[in-house]
Amino acid sequence: PKEAAVGPLVGAVVQGTNSTRFLVFNSKTAELLCHHQVELTQEYPKEGWVEQDPKEILQSVYECIARTCEKLVEVNIDISNIKAIGVSNQRETTVVWDKLSGDPLYNAVVWLDLRTQSTVEILSKKIPGNNNFVKSKTGLPLSTYFSAVKLRWLLDNVTKVQKAVEEGRALFGTIDSWLIWSLTGGVNGGVHCTDVTNASRTMLFNIHSLEWDKELCDFFDIPMEILPKVWSSSEVYGQMKSGVLEGVPISGCLGDQSAALVGQMCFQEGQAKNTYGTGCFLLCNTGRKRVFSEHGLLTTVAYKLGKDKPVCYALEGSVAIAGAVIRWLRDNLEIVSTSDEIETLAREAGTSYGCYFVPAFSGLYAPYWEPSARGIICGLTQFTNKCHIAFAALEAVCFQTREILDAMNRDCGIPLSHLQVDGGMTNNKILMQLQADILHIPVIKSVMPETTALGAAMAAGAAEGVGVWSLEPEDLTAVMMERFEPQIQATESEIRYCTWKKAVMKSMGWVT
Ligand code: G3P
Repeated sequence: PKEAAVGPLVGAVVQGTNSTRFLVFNSKTAELLCHHQVELTQEYPKEGWVEQDPKEILQSVYECIARTCEKLVEVNIDISNIKAIGVSNQRETTVVWDKLSGDPLYNAVVWLDLRTQSTVEILSKKIPGNNNFVKSKTGLPLSTYFSAVKLRWLLDNVTKVQKAVEEGRALFGTIDSWLIWSLTGGVNGGVHCTDVTNASRTMLFNIHSLEWDKELCDFFDIPMEILPKVWSSSEVYGQMKSGVLEGVPISGCLGDQSAALVGQMCFQEGQAKNTYGTGCFLLCNTGRKRVFSEHGLLTTVAYKLGKDKPVCYALEGSVAIAGAVIRWLRDNLEIVSTSDEIETLAREAGTSYGCYFVPAFSGLYAPYWEPSARGIICGLTQFTNKCHIAFAALEAVCFQTREILDAMNRDCGIPLSHLQVDGGMTNNKILMQLQADILHIPVIKSVMPETTALGAAMAAGAAEGVGVWSLEPEDLTAVMMERFEPQIQATESEIRYCTWKKAVMKSMGWVT
Protein backbone atom coordinates (compact mmCIF):
# COMPACT_ATOMS: atom_id res chain seq x y z
CA PRO A 1 0.00 0.00 0.00
CA LYS A 2 1.04 3.54 -0.72
CA GLU A 3 1.31 6.25 1.85
CA ALA A 4 -0.60 9.02 0.14
CA ALA A 5 -1.93 12.38 1.05
CA VAL A 6 -5.32 11.19 2.09
CA GLY A 7 -8.60 12.62 0.95
CA PRO A 8 -11.87 10.80 0.60
CA LEU A 9 -11.26 7.20 -0.45
CA VAL A 10 -13.50 4.83 -2.37
CA GLY A 11 -13.35 1.04 -2.33
CA ALA A 12 -14.24 -1.28 -5.18
CA VAL A 13 -15.15 -4.94 -5.01
CA VAL A 14 -14.16 -6.68 -8.25
CA GLN A 15 -15.76 -10.09 -8.20
CA GLY A 16 -14.47 -11.89 -11.32
CA THR A 17 -14.76 -15.49 -12.46
CA ASN A 18 -11.21 -16.28 -11.45
CA SER A 19 -10.75 -14.16 -8.37
CA THR A 20 -12.13 -11.54 -6.03
CA ARG A 21 -10.34 -8.28 -5.28
CA PHE A 22 -10.94 -5.24 -3.14
CA LEU A 23 -9.15 -2.07 -4.19
CA VAL A 24 -9.05 1.37 -2.61
CA PHE A 25 -8.64 4.57 -4.62
CA ASN A 26 -8.06 8.17 -3.70
CA SER A 27 -11.15 9.87 -5.12
CA LYS A 28 -9.34 13.13 -5.90
CA THR A 29 -6.41 11.67 -7.81
CA ALA A 30 -7.85 8.29 -8.93
CA GLU A 31 -4.65 6.78 -7.52
CA LEU A 32 -4.82 3.13 -6.49
CA LEU A 33 -3.63 2.94 -2.88
CA CYS A 34 -3.98 -0.65 -1.91
CA HIS A 35 -5.64 -3.94 -2.79
CA HIS A 36 -6.00 -7.58 -1.90
CA GLN A 37 -6.88 -10.53 -4.12
CA VAL A 38 -8.15 -14.05 -3.47
CA GLU A 39 -8.28 -16.71 -6.19
CA LEU A 40 -11.51 -18.72 -6.36
CA THR A 41 -12.32 -22.39 -6.80
CA GLN A 42 -14.23 -23.43 -9.88
CA GLU A 43 -16.14 -26.68 -9.88
CA TYR A 44 -16.71 -28.79 -12.99
CA PRO A 45 -19.18 -31.44 -11.75
CA LYS A 46 -19.86 -32.70 -15.29
CA GLU A 47 -18.44 -32.06 -18.73
CA GLY A 48 -19.54 -28.56 -19.75
CA TRP A 49 -20.80 -27.62 -16.29
CA VAL A 50 -19.12 -24.76 -14.39
CA GLU A 51 -20.16 -23.88 -10.85
CA GLN A 52 -18.94 -21.77 -7.96
CA ASP A 53 -19.87 -21.70 -4.30
CA PRO A 54 -21.74 -18.43 -3.56
CA LYS A 55 -20.64 -18.62 0.08
CA GLU A 56 -16.98 -18.89 -0.95
CA ILE A 57 -17.48 -15.87 -3.20
CA LEU A 58 -19.05 -13.87 -0.36
CA GLN A 59 -16.34 -14.98 2.07
CA SER A 60 -13.66 -13.91 -0.40
CA VAL A 61 -15.21 -10.43 -0.52
CA TYR A 62 -15.12 -10.12 3.28
CA GLU A 63 -11.55 -11.41 3.33
CA CYS A 64 -10.39 -8.97 0.64
CA ILE A 65 -12.03 -6.02 2.41
CA ALA A 66 -10.51 -6.98 5.77
CA ARG A 67 -7.00 -7.61 4.38
CA THR A 68 -6.98 -4.40 2.31
CA CYS A 69 -8.04 -2.39 5.33
CA GLU A 70 -5.32 -4.02 7.44
CA LYS A 71 -2.75 -3.01 4.83
CA LEU A 72 -4.05 0.58 4.88
CA VAL A 73 -3.84 0.73 8.65
CA GLU A 74 -0.24 -0.56 8.48
CA VAL A 75 0.69 2.60 6.55
CA ASN A 76 -1.34 4.85 8.86
CA ILE A 77 -4.21 5.48 6.50
CA ASP A 78 -7.41 5.90 8.45
CA ILE A 79 -10.01 3.58 6.95
CA SER A 80 -12.77 5.90 8.07
CA ASN A 81 -11.74 7.89 4.98
CA ILE A 82 -13.44 5.20 2.86
CA LYS A 83 -16.68 6.96 1.98
CA ALA A 84 -18.27 4.55 -0.47
CA ILE A 85 -17.98 1.10 -2.01
CA GLY A 86 -18.70 0.08 -5.59
CA VAL A 87 -19.36 -3.46 -6.76
CA SER A 88 -18.39 -4.83 -10.14
CA ASN A 89 -18.88 -8.46 -10.96
CA GLN A 90 -18.72 -11.34 -13.39
CA ARG A 91 -22.01 -11.03 -15.23
CA GLU A 92 -24.77 -13.58 -15.99
CA THR A 93 -23.66 -16.06 -13.28
CA THR A 94 -26.86 -17.11 -11.56
CA VAL A 95 -27.64 -17.63 -7.88
CA VAL A 96 -30.89 -18.54 -6.13
CA TRP A 97 -30.99 -18.26 -2.36
CA ASP A 98 -33.37 -18.53 0.56
CA LYS A 99 -34.26 -15.13 1.98
CA LEU A 100 -35.13 -16.62 5.39
CA SER A 101 -31.98 -18.66 5.99
CA GLY A 102 -29.64 -16.61 3.78
CA ASP A 103 -28.33 -19.85 2.25
CA PRO A 104 -27.83 -20.41 -1.46
CA LEU A 105 -30.14 -23.19 -2.70
CA TYR A 106 -27.62 -24.46 -5.24
CA ASN A 107 -24.15 -23.51 -6.42
CA ALA A 108 -23.83 -20.45 -8.65
CA VAL A 109 -24.23 -21.54 -12.28
CA VAL A 110 -21.37 -19.72 -13.98
CA TRP A 111 -21.78 -17.78 -17.25
CA LEU A 112 -19.50 -20.29 -19.06
CA ASP A 113 -21.71 -23.25 -18.11
CA LEU A 114 -23.16 -25.24 -21.02
CA ARG A 115 -25.76 -27.42 -19.27
CA THR A 116 -28.63 -25.45 -20.77
CA GLN A 117 -27.78 -26.31 -24.37
CA SER A 118 -30.86 -28.53 -24.76
CA THR A 119 -33.05 -25.96 -22.97
CA VAL A 120 -31.89 -23.38 -25.53
CA GLU A 121 -32.67 -25.74 -28.41
CA ILE A 122 -36.17 -26.46 -27.10
CA LEU A 123 -36.89 -22.80 -26.43
CA SER A 124 -35.59 -21.67 -29.80
CA LYS A 125 -38.30 -23.80 -31.44
CA LYS A 126 -40.96 -22.10 -29.33
CA ILE A 127 -40.01 -18.48 -30.03
CA PRO A 128 -43.29 -16.68 -30.69
CA GLY A 129 -43.77 -14.62 -33.86
CA ASN A 130 -40.43 -14.08 -35.48
CA ASN A 131 -37.00 -15.25 -34.41
CA ASN A 132 -36.21 -11.77 -33.22
CA PHE A 133 -38.48 -11.98 -30.16
CA VAL A 134 -35.66 -12.29 -27.60
CA LYS A 135 -33.05 -10.24 -29.44
CA SER A 136 -35.31 -7.29 -30.23
CA LYS A 137 -36.23 -6.88 -26.55
CA THR A 138 -32.92 -7.77 -24.89
CA GLY A 139 -30.22 -7.20 -27.52
CA LEU A 140 -29.06 -10.78 -26.89
CA PRO A 141 -29.21 -14.02 -28.86
CA LEU A 142 -30.93 -16.97 -27.16
CA SER A 143 -27.83 -18.64 -25.70
CA THR A 144 -26.56 -20.69 -22.75
CA TYR A 145 -24.50 -17.62 -21.80
CA PHE A 146 -27.29 -15.60 -20.20
CA SER A 147 -29.04 -15.99 -16.85
CA ALA A 148 -32.65 -16.76 -17.87
CA VAL A 149 -31.87 -20.28 -19.09
CA LYS A 150 -29.66 -21.00 -16.08
CA LEU A 151 -32.51 -19.95 -13.81
CA ARG A 152 -34.91 -22.08 -15.85
CA TRP A 153 -32.58 -25.07 -15.29
CA LEU A 154 -32.51 -24.45 -11.53
CA LEU A 155 -36.31 -24.22 -11.43
CA ASP A 156 -36.65 -27.45 -13.42
CA ASN A 157 -34.00 -29.52 -11.68
CA VAL A 158 -33.42 -28.45 -8.09
CA THR A 159 -36.14 -29.47 -5.64
CA LYS A 160 -34.91 -27.01 -3.00
CA VAL A 161 -35.31 -24.16 -5.48
CA GLN A 162 -38.79 -25.31 -6.54
CA LYS A 163 -39.93 -25.58 -2.94
CA ALA A 164 -38.51 -22.20 -1.94
CA VAL A 165 -40.27 -20.56 -4.92
CA GLU A 166 -43.58 -22.21 -3.97
CA GLU A 167 -43.17 -21.02 -0.39
CA GLY A 168 -42.18 -17.47 -1.38
CA ARG A 169 -38.67 -17.80 0.11
CA ALA A 170 -36.58 -17.75 -3.08
CA LEU A 171 -34.59 -14.81 -4.38
CA PHE A 172 -32.76 -14.77 -7.71
CA GLY A 173 -29.79 -12.66 -8.56
CA THR A 174 -26.60 -12.32 -10.52
CA ILE A 175 -23.46 -12.06 -8.35
CA ASP A 176 -23.95 -8.32 -7.72
CA SER A 177 -27.41 -8.99 -6.22
CA TRP A 178 -26.17 -11.86 -4.08
CA LEU A 179 -23.29 -9.74 -2.74
CA ILE A 180 -25.25 -6.53 -2.15
CA TRP A 181 -28.09 -8.43 -0.44
CA SER A 182 -25.60 -10.23 1.81
CA LEU A 183 -23.38 -7.22 2.54
CA THR A 184 -26.34 -4.98 3.39
CA GLY A 185 -27.63 -7.36 6.03
CA GLY A 186 -28.83 -10.56 4.34
CA VAL A 187 -31.64 -12.08 6.42
CA ASN A 188 -31.64 -8.92 8.53
CA GLY A 189 -32.96 -6.53 5.91
CA GLY A 190 -30.56 -7.11 2.99
CA VAL A 191 -31.41 -5.07 -0.10
CA HIS A 192 -32.45 -7.23 -3.07
CA CYS A 193 -31.38 -5.19 -6.08
CA THR A 194 -29.32 -5.15 -9.26
CA ASP A 195 -28.30 -2.44 -11.71
CA VAL A 196 -29.32 -1.90 -15.31
CA THR A 197 -26.06 -3.28 -16.70
CA ASN A 198 -26.32 -6.58 -14.87
CA ALA A 199 -30.06 -6.82 -15.52
CA SER A 200 -29.38 -6.42 -19.25
CA ARG A 201 -27.45 -9.73 -19.20
CA THR A 202 -30.29 -11.88 -17.87
CA MET A 203 -32.38 -12.17 -21.08
CA LEU A 204 -35.38 -11.08 -18.97
CA PHE A 205 -34.76 -7.34 -19.13
CA ASN A 206 -36.21 -5.05 -21.74
CA ILE A 207 -33.40 -2.70 -22.78
CA HIS A 208 -35.88 -0.20 -24.27
CA SER A 209 -38.15 0.25 -21.23
CA LEU A 210 -35.39 -0.63 -18.70
CA GLU A 211 -37.76 -2.96 -16.85
CA TRP A 212 -38.20 -6.68 -16.37
CA ASP A 213 -40.25 -7.83 -19.34
CA LYS A 214 -43.45 -9.75 -18.58
CA GLU A 215 -43.53 -11.44 -22.00
CA LEU A 216 -39.96 -12.65 -21.62
CA CYS A 217 -40.65 -13.92 -18.10
CA ASP A 218 -43.69 -15.80 -19.47
CA PHE A 219 -41.61 -17.20 -22.33
CA PHE A 220 -38.93 -18.52 -19.95
CA ASP A 221 -41.58 -19.30 -17.33
CA ILE A 222 -39.81 -17.31 -14.62
CA PRO A 223 -41.79 -16.08 -11.59
CA MET A 224 -41.28 -12.31 -11.55
CA GLU A 225 -41.52 -12.05 -7.76
CA ILE A 226 -38.07 -13.62 -7.33
CA LEU A 227 -36.35 -10.96 -9.47
CA PRO A 228 -34.40 -8.11 -7.81
CA LYS A 229 -35.39 -4.47 -8.08
CA VAL A 230 -33.45 -2.72 -10.86
CA TRP A 231 -31.58 0.47 -9.94
CA SER A 232 -29.18 2.72 -11.82
CA SER A 233 -25.43 1.97 -11.64
CA SER A 234 -24.71 4.86 -9.28
CA GLU A 235 -26.92 5.41 -6.23
CA VAL A 236 -26.94 4.36 -2.59
CA TYR A 237 -28.35 0.82 -2.46
CA GLY A 238 -27.68 0.31 1.25
CA GLN A 239 -24.92 0.27 3.86
CA MET A 240 -22.38 -2.37 4.87
CA LYS A 241 -23.94 -4.17 7.85
CA SER A 242 -20.83 -5.75 9.32
CA GLY A 243 -17.07 -5.97 9.16
CA VAL A 244 -14.45 -3.23 9.30
CA LEU A 245 -16.38 -1.02 6.88
CA GLU A 246 -19.72 -1.28 8.69
CA GLY A 247 -21.94 1.68 7.82
CA VAL A 248 -20.16 2.60 4.56
CA PRO A 249 -22.66 3.02 1.71
CA ILE A 250 -22.60 0.67 -1.26
CA SER A 251 -23.35 3.12 -4.01
CA GLY A 252 -21.98 1.77 -7.29
CA CYS A 253 -22.85 -1.38 -9.16
CA LEU A 254 -21.81 -2.35 -12.68
CA GLY A 255 -21.19 -5.57 -14.56
CA ASP A 256 -17.41 -5.84 -14.84
CA GLN A 257 -17.27 -5.01 -18.56
CA SER A 258 -19.35 -1.88 -18.11
CA ALA A 259 -17.18 -0.91 -15.17
CA ALA A 260 -14.08 -1.21 -17.37
CA LEU A 261 -15.70 0.98 -20.03
CA VAL A 262 -16.29 3.65 -17.38
CA GLY A 263 -12.81 3.17 -15.87
CA GLN A 264 -11.26 3.61 -19.33
CA MET A 265 -13.24 6.88 -19.60
CA CYS A 266 -14.98 5.70 -22.78
CA PHE A 267 -17.84 8.17 -22.31
CA GLN A 268 -18.03 9.30 -25.93
CA GLU A 269 -19.96 7.54 -28.64
CA GLY A 270 -17.53 5.46 -30.72
CA GLN A 271 -15.01 4.91 -27.91
CA ALA A 272 -14.21 1.26 -27.26
CA LYS A 273 -12.21 -0.93 -24.89
CA ASN A 274 -11.23 -4.57 -24.76
CA THR A 275 -10.77 -6.28 -21.38
CA TYR A 276 -8.73 -9.49 -21.10
CA GLY A 277 -10.04 -11.46 -18.10
CA THR A 278 -11.32 -15.03 -17.98
CA GLY A 279 -12.95 -14.15 -21.26
CA CYS A 280 -12.35 -11.17 -23.49
CA PHE A 281 -14.95 -8.46 -23.98
CA LEU A 282 -14.83 -5.63 -26.49
CA LEU A 283 -17.41 -2.90 -25.81
CA CYS A 284 -18.04 0.14 -27.97
CA ASN A 285 -20.07 3.00 -26.50
CA THR A 286 -23.02 3.79 -28.81
CA GLY A 287 -24.40 6.59 -26.60
CA ARG A 288 -28.19 6.82 -26.38
CA LYS A 289 -28.54 4.63 -29.49
CA ARG A 290 -29.31 0.94 -29.32
CA VAL A 291 -27.38 -0.45 -32.27
CA PHE A 292 -28.53 -3.94 -33.27
CA SER A 293 -25.71 -5.97 -34.77
CA GLU A 294 -25.84 -7.71 -38.12
CA HIS A 295 -22.59 -9.54 -37.31
CA GLY A 296 -23.05 -11.49 -34.10
CA LEU A 297 -22.47 -8.77 -31.51
CA LEU A 298 -24.68 -8.00 -28.53
CA THR A 299 -26.55 -4.82 -27.70
CA THR A 300 -26.16 -4.16 -24.02
CA VAL A 301 -26.64 -1.45 -21.41
CA ALA A 302 -23.29 0.30 -20.95
CA TYR A 303 -24.16 2.32 -17.83
CA LYS A 304 -26.62 4.71 -16.23
CA LEU A 305 -24.65 6.78 -13.75
CA GLY A 306 -27.47 8.05 -11.54
CA LYS A 307 -31.21 7.66 -11.13
CA ASP A 308 -31.96 10.69 -13.27
CA LYS A 309 -29.02 10.32 -15.63
CA PRO A 310 -29.44 9.05 -19.20
CA VAL A 311 -28.77 5.44 -20.04
CA CYS A 312 -25.95 4.68 -22.47
CA TYR A 313 -25.73 1.55 -24.57
CA ALA A 314 -22.86 -0.45 -26.04
CA LEU A 315 -22.21 -2.95 -28.78
CA GLU A 316 -20.35 -5.90 -27.30
CA GLY A 317 -18.21 -8.66 -28.73
CA SER A 318 -17.90 -11.43 -26.14
CA VAL A 319 -15.21 -14.11 -26.26
CA ALA A 320 -15.68 -16.87 -23.69
CA ILE A 321 -12.09 -18.02 -23.24
CA ALA A 322 -9.07 -15.70 -22.94
CA GLY A 323 -7.25 -15.84 -19.57
CA ALA A 324 -9.06 -19.13 -18.94
CA VAL A 325 -6.87 -20.80 -21.56
CA ILE A 326 -3.80 -19.88 -19.50
CA ARG A 327 -5.42 -21.27 -16.37
CA TRP A 328 -6.21 -24.45 -18.34
CA LEU A 329 -2.57 -24.82 -19.46
CA ARG A 330 -1.52 -24.36 -15.84
CA ASP A 331 -4.14 -26.50 -14.06
CA ASN A 332 -5.14 -29.14 -16.61
CA LEU A 333 -2.01 -29.68 -18.73
CA GLU A 334 0.32 -28.48 -15.96
CA ILE A 335 2.85 -27.16 -18.47
CA VAL A 336 3.52 -24.20 -16.16
CA SER A 337 3.12 -23.73 -12.44
CA THR A 338 2.24 -20.04 -12.56
CA SER A 339 0.32 -18.14 -15.24
CA ASP A 340 3.19 -15.68 -15.73
CA GLU A 341 5.44 -18.48 -17.00
CA ILE A 342 3.36 -18.64 -20.19
CA GLU A 343 4.98 -15.40 -21.33
CA THR A 344 8.46 -16.90 -20.82
CA LEU A 345 7.55 -20.01 -22.82
CA ALA A 346 5.98 -17.98 -25.62
CA ARG A 347 9.00 -15.69 -25.75
CA GLU A 348 11.29 -18.71 -26.02
CA ALA A 349 9.30 -20.00 -28.99
CA GLY A 350 8.76 -16.64 -30.69
CA THR A 351 6.27 -18.37 -32.99
CA SER A 352 3.60 -21.04 -32.80
CA TYR A 353 5.41 -22.90 -35.58
CA GLY A 354 2.16 -23.40 -37.48
CA CYS A 355 0.25 -24.60 -34.43
CA TYR A 356 -3.26 -23.15 -33.91
CA PHE A 357 -5.23 -23.46 -30.69
CA VAL A 358 -8.98 -22.76 -30.73
CA PRO A 359 -10.00 -22.76 -27.04
CA ALA A 360 -13.72 -23.34 -27.68
CA PHE A 361 -14.14 -24.96 -24.25
CA SER A 362 -17.63 -23.50 -23.88
CA GLY A 363 -18.55 -23.47 -27.53
CA LEU A 364 -17.85 -20.27 -29.43
CA TYR A 365 -19.42 -16.95 -28.49
CA ALA A 366 -19.24 -13.87 -30.73
CA PRO A 367 -19.39 -13.67 -33.64
CA TYR A 368 -20.35 -17.35 -34.14
CA TRP A 369 -22.64 -18.23 -31.19
CA GLU A 370 -21.90 -21.89 -31.85
CA PRO A 371 -22.46 -24.12 -28.81
CA SER A 372 -21.43 -27.23 -30.77
CA ALA A 373 -17.80 -26.10 -31.05
CA ARG A 374 -15.12 -27.60 -28.80
CA GLY A 375 -11.45 -26.79 -28.30
CA ILE A 376 -8.85 -28.02 -30.76
CA ILE A 377 -5.10 -27.74 -31.14
CA CYS A 378 -4.06 -28.36 -34.73
CA GLY A 379 -1.06 -28.05 -37.04
CA LEU A 380 1.07 -30.19 -34.70
CA THR A 381 4.34 -31.76 -35.86
CA GLN A 382 7.09 -33.69 -34.06
CA PHE A 383 8.82 -30.36 -33.69
CA THR A 384 5.95 -28.81 -31.70
CA ASN A 385 6.66 -28.33 -28.01
CA LYS A 386 5.00 -26.67 -25.05
CA CYS A 387 6.51 -23.29 -25.95
CA HIS A 388 4.72 -23.35 -29.32
CA ILE A 389 1.47 -24.32 -27.63
CA ALA A 390 1.89 -21.44 -25.15
CA PHE A 391 2.46 -19.08 -28.08
CA ALA A 392 -0.57 -20.47 -29.93
CA ALA A 393 -2.71 -19.94 -26.81
CA LEU A 394 -1.73 -16.26 -26.70
CA GLU A 395 -2.30 -15.92 -30.42
CA ALA A 396 -5.77 -17.44 -29.97
CA VAL A 397 -6.72 -14.61 -27.63
CA CYS A 398 -5.57 -12.11 -30.27
CA PHE A 399 -7.30 -13.84 -33.19
CA GLN A 400 -10.56 -13.98 -31.26
CA THR A 401 -10.26 -10.26 -30.57
CA ARG A 402 -9.63 -9.67 -34.28
CA GLU A 403 -12.87 -11.50 -35.10
CA ILE A 404 -14.94 -9.31 -32.82
CA LEU A 405 -13.14 -6.14 -33.91
CA ASP A 406 -13.91 -6.97 -37.56
CA ALA A 407 -17.57 -7.50 -36.66
CA MET A 408 -17.61 -4.22 -34.72
CA ASN A 409 -16.10 -2.33 -37.65
CA ARG A 410 -18.72 -3.77 -40.01
CA ASP A 411 -21.59 -2.86 -37.66
CA CYS A 412 -20.32 0.64 -36.90
CA GLY A 413 -19.21 1.52 -40.42
CA ILE A 414 -16.21 3.47 -39.13
CA PRO A 415 -13.24 1.20 -38.36
CA LEU A 416 -11.60 1.66 -34.96
CA SER A 417 -8.29 3.44 -35.40
CA HIS A 418 -6.78 1.92 -32.26
CA LEU A 419 -7.81 -0.44 -29.47
CA GLN A 420 -7.83 0.55 -25.78
CA VAL A 421 -7.13 -2.48 -23.62
CA ASP A 422 -7.07 -3.44 -19.96
CA GLY A 423 -7.29 -6.46 -17.66
CA GLY A 424 -4.78 -8.78 -16.05
CA MET A 425 -3.44 -10.28 -19.28
CA THR A 426 -2.34 -6.88 -20.60
CA ASN A 427 0.75 -7.19 -18.39
CA ASN A 428 1.91 -9.80 -20.89
CA LYS A 429 4.01 -7.80 -23.34
CA ILE A 430 4.14 -10.57 -25.94
CA LEU A 431 0.36 -10.72 -25.95
CA MET A 432 0.10 -6.96 -26.43
CA GLN A 433 2.58 -6.95 -29.32
CA LEU A 434 0.87 -9.93 -30.95
CA GLN A 435 -2.45 -8.14 -30.59
CA ALA A 436 -1.16 -5.04 -32.38
CA ASP A 437 0.34 -7.25 -35.12
CA ILE A 438 -2.81 -9.29 -35.64
CA LEU A 439 -5.19 -6.30 -35.62
CA HIS A 440 -2.75 -4.17 -37.52
CA ILE A 441 -3.74 -1.08 -35.53
CA PRO A 442 -2.06 0.34 -32.41
CA VAL A 443 -3.02 -1.24 -29.10
CA ILE A 444 -3.15 1.22 -26.23
CA LYS A 445 -2.88 -0.17 -22.75
CA SER A 446 -3.77 1.71 -19.60
CA VAL A 447 -0.75 1.77 -17.32
CA MET A 448 -3.02 1.23 -14.31
CA PRO A 449 -4.64 -2.04 -15.40
CA GLU A 450 -7.34 -1.93 -12.72
CA THR A 451 -9.83 -0.02 -14.83
CA THR A 452 -12.73 -2.30 -13.86
CA ALA A 453 -12.20 -1.40 -10.21
CA LEU A 454 -11.71 2.25 -11.10
CA GLY A 455 -15.05 2.32 -12.96
CA ALA A 456 -16.88 0.79 -9.99
CA ALA A 457 -15.18 3.23 -7.61
CA MET A 458 -16.07 6.19 -9.84
CA ALA A 459 -19.74 5.14 -9.94
CA ALA A 460 -19.81 4.68 -6.15
CA GLY A 461 -18.00 7.95 -5.38
CA ALA A 462 -20.19 9.98 -7.73
CA ALA A 463 -23.51 8.74 -6.35
CA GLU A 464 -26.00 11.27 -5.06
CA GLY A 465 -25.54 11.61 -1.31
CA VAL A 466 -21.87 10.49 -1.52
CA GLY A 467 -20.45 13.05 -3.94
CA VAL A 468 -16.71 12.47 -3.45
CA TRP A 469 -15.92 11.78 -7.13
CA SER A 470 -16.72 14.19 -9.91
CA LEU A 471 -17.58 12.73 -13.30
CA GLU A 472 -17.40 16.12 -14.99
CA PRO A 473 -15.07 15.75 -18.01
CA GLU A 474 -12.72 18.52 -16.77
CA ASP A 475 -12.29 16.76 -13.40
CA LEU A 476 -11.51 13.31 -14.75
CA THR A 477 -7.89 12.26 -14.47
CA ALA A 478 -6.70 10.94 -17.82
CA VAL A 479 -5.62 7.30 -17.75
CA MET A 480 -1.89 6.93 -18.52
CA MET A 481 -1.30 4.85 -21.61
CA GLU A 482 1.36 2.62 -23.13
CA ARG A 483 1.30 2.03 -26.90
CA PHE A 484 2.06 -1.06 -28.97
CA GLU A 485 2.45 -0.50 -32.73
CA PRO A 486 2.07 -3.25 -35.35
CA GLN A 487 5.50 -4.59 -36.26
CA ILE A 488 4.69 -7.02 -39.06
CA GLN A 489 3.36 -6.52 -42.57
CA ALA A 490 -0.44 -6.53 -42.95
CA THR A 491 -0.16 -9.41 -45.47
CA GLU A 492 1.58 -11.61 -42.90
CA SER A 493 -1.08 -11.01 -40.27
CA GLU A 494 -3.76 -11.69 -42.93
CA ILE A 495 -2.22 -15.07 -43.78
CA ARG A 496 -2.07 -16.11 -40.13
CA TYR A 497 -5.61 -14.89 -39.54
CA CYS A 498 -6.90 -16.91 -42.54
CA THR A 499 -5.30 -20.07 -41.14
CA TRP A 500 -6.86 -19.34 -37.75
CA LYS A 501 -10.27 -19.16 -39.45
CA LYS A 502 -9.65 -22.59 -40.97
CA ALA A 503 -8.92 -23.93 -37.50
CA VAL A 504 -12.12 -22.33 -36.16
CA MET A 505 -14.16 -24.12 -38.82
CA LYS A 506 -12.62 -27.42 -37.69
CA SER A 507 -13.63 -26.76 -34.07
CA MET A 508 -17.31 -26.54 -34.95
CA GLY A 509 -19.85 -29.35 -34.83
CA TRP A 510 -17.99 -31.57 -32.31
CA VAL A 511 -21.07 -32.09 -30.22
CA THR A 512 -24.56 -32.40 -31.55
O1 G3P B 1 -19.78 -11.95 -19.09
C1 G3P B 1 -18.82 -12.55 -18.28
C2 G3P B 1 -17.83 -11.55 -17.78
O2 G3P B 1 -18.46 -10.55 -17.07
C3 G3P B 1 -16.75 -12.24 -16.99
O3 G3P B 1 -15.70 -11.41 -16.77
O4 G3P B 1 -13.51 -10.79 -15.90
O5 G3P B 1 -14.48 -12.95 -15.24
O6 G3P B 1 -13.67 -12.57 -17.56
P1 G3P B 1 -14.26 -12.00 -16.33
